[in-house]
Amino acid sequence: MDLVEVCFQGSGKTVFVPPGTTLLAAAGMAGIDVATGCTRGMCGTDAWHVQGAADCLHVAVEPERATLDRMGVAADCRLLCSARVQRGRVVVAGDAVAG
Ligand code: FES
Repeated sequence: MDLVEVCFQGSGKTVFVPPGTTLLAAAGMAGIDVATGCTRGMCGTDAWHVQGAADCLHVAVEPERATLDRMGVAADCRLLCSARVQRGRVVVAGDAVAG
C-alpha cells in the first residue's frame, strides 16, 4: 500500500499515512492541535484550505458537502474531520478563517 504524504504548511510538519486516513487523524499524528466540534462533518469548525492533485483526497460526501456549501467557503476548503486522503501528496495550508 502506498502511503499518502500530508504536509501541514503552517507548522512545516509532514506525515505519511495510509489511504483513507482523515486529515484530522493525520494532524494528530503530526502533533498539530486542530480546533474541532462535532468531528462528524456537521459544525464546520475544522474547515481548512487544502491543496494537491484532484485525486489526492476522496470527494466530499454528506454531511461534509452540505456543511461546506452552507458555510460558503472557498472551493479548496475541506473539513479535516471528514476529508480522507486517497493518494499522492496533500498540503494543508491553513484554516478557512485565519487563512
Ligand atoms: S469538527 Fe465539526 S465539522 Fe469537523
